[in-house]
Amino acid sequence: MRFRLGEVTSSRGPVFEEAYRALEAEFGPRSELERRAVLARWLDEPSPTTHSDGALERSYHLLVAHDEEGRFAGVRDLHVVLDRRAAVAVAYLAHVLVLPPFRRTGLGALFRSTPVDMAQAAVRNAGMDVAAVPLLLAAEMEPPTPGDDASLVRLVAYGKEGFSAISPVVFPYFQPDFRDLGAEGVPSPIPLLAVVRLVGHESAVTLPASLARAFVAYLHAVFSTHVRADHLAALRAQTLGALDASGVADVPLLRLPRSLDDAATAHALTLSRLPLSRPMS
Ligand SMILES: CC(C)(COP(=O)(O)OP(=O)(O)OC[C@H]1O[C@@H](n2cnc3c(N)ncnc32)[C@H](O)[C@@H]1OP(=O)(O)O)[C@@H](O)C(=O)NCCC(=O)NCCS
Repeated sequence: MRFRLGEVTSSRGPVFEEAYRALEAEFGPRSELERRAVLARWLDEPSPTTHSDGALERSYHLLVAHDEEGRFAGVRDLHVVLDRRAAVAVAYLAHVLVLPPFRRTGLGALFRSTPVDMAQAAVRNAGMDVAAVPLLLAAEMEPPTPGDDASLVRLVAYGKEGFSAISPVVFPYFQPDFRDLGAEGVPSPIPLLAVVRLVGHESAVTLPASLARAFVAYLHAVFSTHVRADHLAALRAQTLGALDASGVADVPLLRLPRSLDDAATAHALTLSRLPLSRPMS
């Protein structure tokens, strides 16, 4: 099957509505989607792509796919974050959805490869050498739930393409609460696997601790646009505190399952096996 990928550049109009509705139906019930106004703001008021003070440069991308007959087939959104000073790029793969009739037709793979091209283009546009700038693909994923094949399918799809999970023993990771909690609300962060692929190093069994730190720092740079600073600081303290306490220079990577039958690998990643109790707020 062939698909046409388009980038949504404004929240005004039916394309954004269709994309957001599809994401909301899939990720809303799991509290894994930002509010509509947050995505709209990222599109309508993009972050500047250059900063004189050396701050992180971020860009948000909402991609939609249609098949040859114009049918809506899927949506992916991502953030490209470039740190010129440290010479590191992170493509934060936020959400991906391939609608059921289009699954396993190549669109999932296209949605995983396009972010690499986009991040490398950002590096080049910044006048930097792609070969000299490590590119980390970063995603947050639910641990597999026994009996829920969908939770396993997404890990398999990424596992087959060289993604692994940063060991939660040294890097307990939580997605912040995306709701608008106001001043008094108590956040309810979600324990997730920090899933990564360091482009060009797909068979590595460890990740430099500096890049694990980048995972948190750069994702939090994105979250800071809509999540309270004190909520993010508490989560950073939990994740980076464990990393510091471990004293490791390279964090272990856990293999993701490569097929639905890979029960032993999946079992090692289930929530009951991981030190991911909900953090204190
Ligand atoms: C996860 C998702 C994007 C994968 O897309 P897809 O088009 O279904 O699957 P892919 O083409 O990417 O699959 C890659 C590999 O994963 C494995 N796989 C995918 N679906 C599978 C299934 N239902 N059963 C067994 N293996 C499967 C296969 O090994 C497949 O390779 P193959 O087709 O060459 O055998 C899609 O299932 C989806 O939208 N799920 C709901 C939303 C979601 O979970 N998103 C991910 C979290 S952000």
